[in-house]
Amino acid sequence: MARKVSEGPPWEKLSGLDRSGMLGVLARFPDQCREGIAIGEQVPVDPLAGFSRAVALGMGGSGIAGDLLAHLLSVEVIPVRTYTLPRWVGEETLLLALSYSGDTEETLSAFADGLGRTRRALAVTSGGALGKLCAQRGIPWVRIPDGYQPRAALGYLLFPLLALFRGLGTFRDDLTETLAVLDEQARALGPASPGNPAQELALLLHGRVPLVYGAGPTAPVAFRWKTQINEHAKQPAFWAELPEACHNEIVGWELAGKVFPNGVVVFLRSRHDHPRVQARIEILKELLDRRGLPYLEVQGEGEGALAQMFSLLYLGDWASVYLALLNGADPTPVRPIQELKDRLGRWQ
Ligand code: F6R
Repeated sequence: MARKVSEGPPWEKLSGLDRSGMLGVLARFPDQCREGIAIGEQVPVDPLAGFSRAVALGMGGSGIAGDLLAHLLSVEVIPVRTYTLPRWVGEETLLLALSYSGDTEETLSAFADGLGRTRRALAVTSGGALGKLCAQRGIPWVRIPDGYQPRAALGYLLFPLLALFRGLGTFRDDLTETLAVLDEQARALGPASPGNPAQELALLLHGRVPLVYGAGPTAPVAFRWKTQINEHAKQPAFWAELPEACHNEIVGWELAGKVFPNGVVVFLRSRHDHPRVQARIEILKELLDRRGLPYLEVQGEGEGALAQMFSLLYLGDWASVYLALLNGADPTPVRPIQELKDRLGRWQ
Protein backbone atom coordinates (compact mmCIF):
# COMPACT_ATOMS: atom_id res chain seq x y z
CA MET A 1 0.00 0.00 0.00
CA ALA A 2 1.50 3.29 -1.08
CA ARG A 3 1.15 5.27 2.09
CA LYS A 4 4.27 6.69 3.59
CA VAL A 5 4.83 6.08 7.25
CA SER A 6 7.33 8.75 8.08
CA GLU A 7 8.47 9.60 11.55
CA GLY A 8 6.55 7.59 14.12
CA PRO A 9 4.04 9.21 16.44
CA PRO A 10 4.92 9.73 20.12
CA TRP A 11 3.61 6.34 21.25
CA GLU A 12 4.74 6.85 24.80
CA LYS A 13 2.73 10.04 25.11
CA LEU A 14 -0.25 8.51 23.31
CA SER A 15 -0.21 5.61 25.79
CA GLY A 16 -1.52 8.13 28.32
CA LEU A 17 -4.90 7.78 26.58
CA ASP A 18 -5.03 4.16 27.73
CA ARG A 19 -6.43 5.19 31.08
CA SER A 20 -7.86 1.77 31.96
CA GLY A 21 -4.74 -0.18 31.06
CA MET A 22 -5.77 -2.15 27.96
CA LEU A 23 -2.14 -2.31 26.79
CA GLY A 24 -1.14 -4.06 30.00
CA VAL A 25 -4.03 -6.52 29.78
CA LEU A 26 -3.10 -7.30 26.19
CA ALA A 27 0.53 -7.91 27.11
CA ARG A 28 -0.62 -10.58 29.57
CA PHE A 29 -2.79 -12.43 27.03
CA PRO A 30 -0.45 -15.45 26.72
CA ASP A 31 -0.46 -15.83 30.52
CA GLN A 32 -4.23 -15.51 30.49
CA CYS A 33 -4.40 -18.38 27.97
CA ARG A 34 -2.20 -20.55 30.22
CA GLU A 35 -4.32 -19.70 33.25
CA GLY A 36 -7.40 -20.50 31.17
CA ILE A 37 -6.02 -23.95 30.38
CA ALA A 38 -5.32 -24.56 34.08
CA ILE A 39 -8.88 -23.49 34.97
CA GLY A 40 -10.36 -25.79 32.32
CA GLU A 41 -8.32 -28.77 33.50
CA GLN A 42 -10.11 -28.62 36.86
CA VAL A 43 -13.58 -29.02 35.37
CA PRO A 44 -15.06 -32.55 35.58
CA VAL A 45 -16.07 -33.48 32.04
CA ASP A 46 -17.90 -36.80 32.54
CA PRO A 47 -21.41 -35.32 32.90
CA LEU A 48 -20.99 -33.67 29.48
CA ALA A 49 -19.82 -36.68 27.49
CA GLY A 50 -21.89 -38.26 24.74
CA PHE A 51 -22.92 -35.21 22.69
CA SER A 52 -22.69 -35.22 18.92
CA ARG A 53 -22.60 -31.47 18.39
CA ALA A 54 -22.55 -28.26 20.39
CA VAL A 55 -24.24 -24.89 20.24
CA ALA A 56 -22.14 -22.01 21.52
CA LEU A 57 -24.39 -19.22 22.77
CA GLY A 58 -22.67 -15.90 23.19
CA MET A 59 -22.54 -12.32 22.03
CA GLY A 60 -19.72 -9.94 21.21
CA GLY A 61 -16.42 -10.47 22.97
CA SER A 62 -17.72 -13.71 24.51
CA GLY A 63 -19.38 -15.04 21.38
CA ILE A 64 -16.14 -14.96 19.40
CA ALA A 65 -14.90 -17.86 21.53
CA GLY A 66 -17.66 -19.97 19.96
CA ASP A 67 -16.64 -18.99 16.42
CA LEU A 68 -13.04 -19.94 17.13
CA LEU A 69 -14.07 -23.17 18.82
CA ALA A 70 -16.01 -24.16 15.71
CA HIS A 71 -12.68 -24.29 13.85
CA LEU A 72 -10.78 -26.09 16.58
CA LEU A 73 -12.88 -29.06 17.65
CA SER A 74 -13.43 -32.36 15.90
CA VAL A 75 -17.13 -32.10 16.65
CA GLU A 76 -19.58 -29.67 15.07
CA VAL A 77 -19.98 -26.39 16.95
CA ILE A 78 -22.65 -23.95 15.85
CA PRO A 79 -22.41 -20.42 17.23
CA VAL A 80 -25.78 -18.90 18.18
CA ARG A 81 -26.17 -15.15 18.56
CA THR A 82 -29.79 -14.60 19.38
CA TYR A 83 -32.55 -15.25 21.94
CA THR A 84 -33.68 -18.66 20.72
CA LEU A 85 -32.11 -21.87 19.50
CA PRO A 86 -32.41 -23.72 16.21
CA ARG A 87 -35.20 -26.33 16.17
CA TRP A 88 -32.86 -29.30 15.95
CA VAL A 89 -31.25 -28.68 19.37
CA GLY A 90 -32.04 -31.73 21.50
CA GLU A 91 -30.63 -34.24 23.98
CA GLU A 92 -27.58 -35.05 21.83
CA THR A 93 -26.57 -31.38 21.76
CA LEU A 94 -24.14 -29.81 24.21
CA LEU A 95 -25.37 -26.41 25.28
CA LEU A 96 -22.51 -24.01 25.85
CA ALA A 97 -23.29 -20.58 27.28
CA LEU A 98 -20.47 -18.06 26.97
CA SER A 99 -20.97 -14.74 28.70
CA TYR A 100 -18.18 -12.96 30.47
CA SER A 101 -20.52 -10.81 32.59
CA GLY A 102 -23.14 -13.55 32.86
CA ASP A 103 -25.81 -10.92 32.32
CA THR A 104 -26.23 -10.81 28.56
CA GLU A 105 -29.93 -11.22 27.83
CA GLU A 106 -29.67 -12.99 24.48
CA THR A 107 -27.35 -15.63 25.94
CA LEU A 108 -29.49 -16.09 29.07
CA SER A 109 -32.63 -16.45 26.98
CA ALA A 110 -31.14 -19.01 24.56
CA PHE A 111 -29.66 -20.93 27.51
CA ALA A 112 -33.06 -21.11 29.21
CA ASP A 113 -34.54 -22.32 25.92
CA GLY A 114 -31.85 -25.03 25.64
CA LEU A 115 -32.12 -26.24 29.23
CA GLY A 116 -35.58 -27.53 28.41
CA ARG A 117 -34.16 -29.61 25.55
CA THR A 118 -30.90 -31.13 26.76
CA ARG A 119 -29.26 -32.12 30.04
CA ARG A 120 -25.79 -31.51 28.64
CA ALA A 121 -25.05 -27.91 29.51
CA LEU A 122 -22.06 -25.86 30.54
CA ALA A 123 -21.45 -22.15 31.06
CA VAL A 124 -18.30 -20.05 31.04
CA THR A 125 -18.72 -16.82 32.95
CA SER A 126 -17.28 -14.63 35.68
CA GLY A 127 -20.63 -14.78 37.51
CA GLY A 128 -23.73 -12.63 37.01
CA ALA A 129 -27.17 -14.14 36.46
CA LEU A 130 -25.68 -17.01 34.47
CA GLY A 131 -23.35 -18.02 37.29
CA LYS A 132 -26.25 -17.79 39.77
CA LEU A 133 -28.52 -19.91 37.58
CA CYS A 134 -25.86 -22.61 37.20
CA ALA A 135 -25.12 -22.63 40.93
CA GLN A 136 -28.84 -22.91 41.79
CA ARG A 137 -29.58 -25.67 39.29
CA GLY A 138 -26.35 -27.65 39.65
CA ILE A 139 -25.29 -26.94 36.07
CA PRO A 140 -21.51 -27.21 35.57
CA TRP A 141 -19.88 -23.85 34.98
CA VAL A 142 -16.39 -22.54 34.50
CA ARG A 143 -15.85 -19.58 36.77
CA ILE A 144 -13.35 -17.15 35.27
CA PRO A 145 -11.76 -14.09 36.92
CA ASP A 146 -13.80 -10.89 36.86
CA GLY A 147 -12.68 -7.29 36.31
CA TYR A 148 -11.94 -7.47 32.58
CA GLN A 149 -13.69 -6.20 29.50
CA PRO A 150 -15.19 -9.33 27.91
CA ARG A 151 -13.21 -8.84 24.71
CA ALA A 152 -10.03 -8.62 26.79
CA ALA A 153 -10.76 -11.94 28.49
CA LEU A 154 -10.59 -14.25 25.46
CA GLY A 155 -7.86 -16.34 27.09
CA TYR A 156 -10.25 -17.05 29.98
CA LEU A 157 -13.27 -17.59 27.77
CA LEU A 158 -11.74 -19.92 25.20
CA PHE A 159 -8.75 -21.74 26.67
CA PRO A 160 -10.58 -23.46 29.56
CA LEU A 161 -12.82 -24.93 26.87
CA LEU A 162 -9.84 -26.19 24.91
CA ALA A 163 -8.58 -27.99 28.02
CA LEU A 164 -12.03 -29.32 28.75
CA PHE A 165 -12.63 -30.55 25.22
CA ARG A 166 -9.21 -32.15 25.26
CA GLY A 167 -10.48 -34.17 28.22
CA LEU A 168 -13.49 -35.15 26.12
CA GLY A 169 -11.29 -36.15 23.17
CA THR A 170 -12.63 -33.51 20.79
CA PHE A 171 -9.65 -31.14 20.87
CA ARG A 172 -6.38 -32.80 19.95
CA ASP A 173 -3.98 -30.07 18.89
CA ASP A 174 -0.81 -29.24 20.73
CA LEU A 175 -0.82 -25.66 22.00
CA THR A 176 2.91 -25.44 22.73
CA GLU A 177 3.90 -23.63 19.55
CA THR A 178 0.89 -21.29 19.70
CA LEU A 179 1.72 -20.19 23.25
CA ALA A 180 5.40 -19.70 22.37
CA VAL A 181 4.45 -17.56 19.35
CA LEU A 182 2.07 -15.49 21.52
CA ASP A 183 4.84 -15.01 24.11
CA GLU A 184 7.14 -13.75 21.39
CA GLN A 185 4.47 -11.40 20.06
CA ALA A 186 3.78 -10.05 23.55
CA ARG A 187 7.42 -8.98 23.62
CA ALA A 188 7.64 -7.77 20.03
CA LEU A 189 4.36 -5.88 19.74
CA GLY A 190 4.17 -4.09 23.09
CA PRO A 191 4.82 -0.38 23.63
CA ALA A 192 8.35 -1.21 24.79
CA SER A 193 9.18 -2.03 21.14
CA PRO A 194 8.48 1.26 19.36
CA GLY A 195 7.97 1.10 15.61
CA ASN A 196 6.75 -2.49 15.90
CA PRO A 197 4.57 -4.17 13.23
CA ALA A 198 1.30 -3.63 15.15
CA GLN A 199 2.03 0.09 15.44
CA GLU A 200 2.98 0.22 11.76
CA LEU A 201 -0.29 -1.47 10.91
CA ALA A 202 -2.24 1.01 13.01
CA LEU A 203 -0.55 3.85 11.14
CA LEU A 204 -1.52 2.30 7.82
CA LEU A 205 -5.12 1.88 8.95
CA HIS A 206 -5.42 5.30 10.56
CA GLY A 207 -8.05 7.50 8.87
CA ARG A 208 -9.31 4.54 6.85
CA VAL A 209 -12.11 2.00 7.08
CA PRO A 210 -10.70 -1.53 7.08
CA LEU A 211 -12.37 -4.36 5.16
CA VAL A 212 -10.80 -7.43 6.70
CA TYR A 213 -10.83 -10.76 4.86
CA GLY A 214 -10.10 -14.18 6.28
CA ALA A 215 -10.71 -17.75 5.13
CA GLY A 216 -11.53 -20.94 7.04
CA PRO A 217 -9.98 -20.65 10.52
CA THR A 218 -8.95 -17.05 9.87
CA ALA A 219 -12.55 -16.01 9.05
CA PRO A 220 -13.46 -15.60 12.76
CA VAL A 221 -10.12 -13.84 13.16
CA ALA A 222 -11.17 -11.32 10.49
CA PHE A 223 -14.40 -10.85 12.44
CA ARG A 224 -12.37 -10.33 15.62
CA TRP A 225 -10.26 -7.67 13.85
CA LYS A 226 -13.43 -5.88 12.83
CA THR A 227 -14.99 -5.97 16.29
CA GLN A 228 -11.75 -5.05 18.09
CA ILE A 229 -11.30 -2.06 15.78
CA ASN A 230 -14.92 -1.06 16.47
CA GLU A 231 -14.66 -1.41 20.25
CA HIS A 232 -11.10 -0.26 20.84
CA ALA A 233 -10.65 2.36 18.14
CA LYS A 234 -14.29 3.55 18.09
CA GLN A 235 -14.47 3.53 14.31
CA PRO A 236 -16.18 1.56 11.56
CA ALA A 237 -14.60 -1.60 10.18
CA PHE A 238 -16.02 -4.49 8.21
CA TRP A 239 -15.11 -8.07 7.46
CA ALA A 240 -15.98 -10.81 5.02
CA GLU A 241 -15.03 -14.39 4.39
CA LEU A 242 -13.12 -15.79 1.45
CA PRO A 243 -13.85 -17.48 -0.88
CA GLU A 244 -17.49 -16.35 -0.44
CA ALA A 245 -16.59 -12.67 -0.94
CA CYS A 246 -15.38 -13.59 -4.43
CA HIS A 247 -19.00 -14.29 -5.33
CA ASN A 248 -20.51 -10.94 -4.33
CA GLU A 249 -18.47 -8.46 -2.28
CA ILE A 250 -15.82 -7.89 -4.93
CA VAL A 251 -18.42 -6.55 -7.35
CA GLY A 252 -18.91 -3.76 -4.82
CA TRP A 253 -15.28 -2.79 -5.38
CA GLU A 254 -16.31 -1.41 -8.78
CA LEU A 255 -17.51 1.83 -7.23
CA ALA A 256 -15.50 1.60 -4.02
CA GLY A 257 -13.07 4.33 -5.03
CA LYS A 258 -16.01 6.69 -5.47
CA VAL A 259 -18.42 5.82 -2.65
CA PHE A 260 -15.95 4.39 -0.13
CA PRO A 261 -12.72 6.31 -0.73
CA ASN A 262 -11.33 5.63 2.73
CA GLY A 263 -11.70 1.88 2.52
CA VAL A 264 -8.65 -0.36 2.79
CA VAL A 265 -8.66 -4.10 2.24
CA VAL A 266 -6.75 -6.23 4.72
CA PHE A 267 -6.01 -9.83 3.75
CA LEU A 268 -5.25 -12.11 6.68
CA ARG A 269 -2.95 -14.79 5.34
CA SER A 270 -2.13 -18.12 6.84
CA ARG A 271 0.40 -20.52 5.35
CA HIS A 272 -2.35 -23.11 5.77
CA ASP A 273 -4.82 -21.25 3.54
CA HIS A 274 -6.30 -23.54 0.91
CA PRO A 275 -4.18 -23.27 -2.28
CA ARG A 276 -7.22 -22.04 -4.22
CA VAL A 277 -7.79 -19.32 -1.59
CA GLN A 278 -4.15 -18.31 -2.04
CA ALA A 279 -4.69 -18.14 -5.80
CA ARG A 280 -7.82 -16.08 -5.28
CA ILE A 281 -5.98 -13.56 -3.10
CA GLU A 282 -3.31 -13.12 -5.78
CA ILE A 283 -6.02 -12.39 -8.35
CA LEU A 284 -7.91 -10.10 -5.97
CA LYS A 285 -4.73 -8.09 -5.41
CA GLU A 286 -4.47 -7.59 -9.17
CA LEU A 287 -8.11 -6.46 -9.29
CA LEU A 288 -7.47 -3.97 -6.50
CA ASP A 289 -4.27 -2.71 -8.16
CA ARG A 290 -6.16 -2.21 -11.40
CA ARG A 291 -8.76 -0.12 -9.61
CA GLY A 292 -6.16 1.78 -7.61
CA LEU A 293 -7.63 0.53 -4.32
CA PRO A 294 -5.32 0.10 -1.34
CA TYR A 295 -4.75 -3.20 0.41
CA LEU A 296 -2.53 -4.74 3.04
CA GLU A 297 -1.47 -8.32 3.59
CA VAL A 298 -0.83 -9.63 7.05
CA GLN A 299 0.93 -12.95 7.50
CA GLY A 300 0.44 -15.27 10.47
CA GLU A 301 3.41 -16.46 12.51
CA GLY A 302 4.69 -19.95 13.28
CA GLU A 303 4.39 -23.28 11.52
CA GLY A 304 1.10 -24.80 12.63
CA ALA A 305 -2.41 -23.70 11.67
CA LEU A 306 -3.22 -22.77 15.27
CA ALA A 307 -0.14 -20.58 15.68
CA GLN A 308 -0.98 -18.88 12.40
CA MET A 309 -4.56 -18.30 13.48
CA PHE A 310 -3.87 -17.01 16.98
CA SER A 311 -0.90 -14.87 15.95
CA LEU A 312 -3.10 -13.09 13.42
CA LEU A 313 -5.72 -12.61 16.12
CA TYR A 314 -3.23 -11.23 18.64
CA LEU A 315 -1.66 -8.92 16.08
CA GLY A 316 -5.12 -7.52 15.31
CA ASP A 317 -5.77 -6.95 19.01
CA TRP A 318 -2.56 -4.94 19.33
CA ALA A 319 -3.11 -3.00 16.12
CA SER A 320 -6.64 -2.06 17.17
CA VAL A 321 -5.43 -0.70 20.50
CA TYR A 322 -2.72 1.37 18.79
CA LEU A 323 -5.34 2.57 16.33
CA ALA A 324 -7.45 3.70 19.28
CA LEU A 325 -4.52 5.77 20.52
CA LEU A 326 -4.02 7.31 17.07
CA ASN A 327 -7.75 8.11 17.07
CA GLY A 328 -7.33 9.87 20.41
CA ALA A 329 -9.52 7.26 22.13
CA ASP A 330 -9.21 5.32 25.36
CA PRO A 331 -9.38 1.72 24.09
CA THR A 332 -11.35 0.33 27.06
CA PRO A 333 -14.76 2.03 27.43
CA VAL A 334 -17.61 0.95 25.16
CA ARG A 335 -20.24 3.52 26.12
CA PRO A 336 -22.76 2.83 23.33
CA ILE A 337 -22.91 -0.87 24.32
CA GLN A 338 -23.39 0.05 27.95
CA GLU A 339 -26.04 2.63 27.14
CA LEU A 340 -27.98 0.16 25.02
CA LYS A 341 -27.84 -2.49 27.75
CA ASP A 342 -28.94 0.05 30.40
CA ARG A 343 -31.85 1.26 28.29
CA LEU A 344 -32.95 -2.28 27.45
CA GLY A 345 -32.86 -3.08 31.16
CA ARG A 346 -35.44 -0.33 31.75
CA TRP A 347 -37.50 -1.16 28.66
CA GLN A 348 -41.03 -2.37 29.43
C1 F6R B 1 -17.17 -5.62 25.70
C2 F6R B 1 -17.51 -6.55 24.65
C3 F6R B 1 -18.94 -6.81 24.31
C4 F6R B 1 -19.54 -7.90 25.20
C5 F6R B 1 -20.99 -8.19 24.81
C6 F6R B 1 -21.60 -9.36 25.56
O1 F6R B 1 -15.78 -5.66 25.93
O2 F6R B 1 -16.63 -7.09 24.05
O3 F6R B 1 -18.99 -7.19 22.95
O4 F6R B 1 -18.78 -9.06 25.10
O5 F6R B 1 -21.78 -7.07 25.02
O6 F6R B 1 -21.39 -9.27 26.94
P1 F6R B 1 -20.79 -10.53 27.71
O7 F6R B 1 -19.52 -10.84 27.03
O8 F6R B 1 -20.61 -10.07 29.11
O9 F6R B 1 -21.81 -11.61 27.57
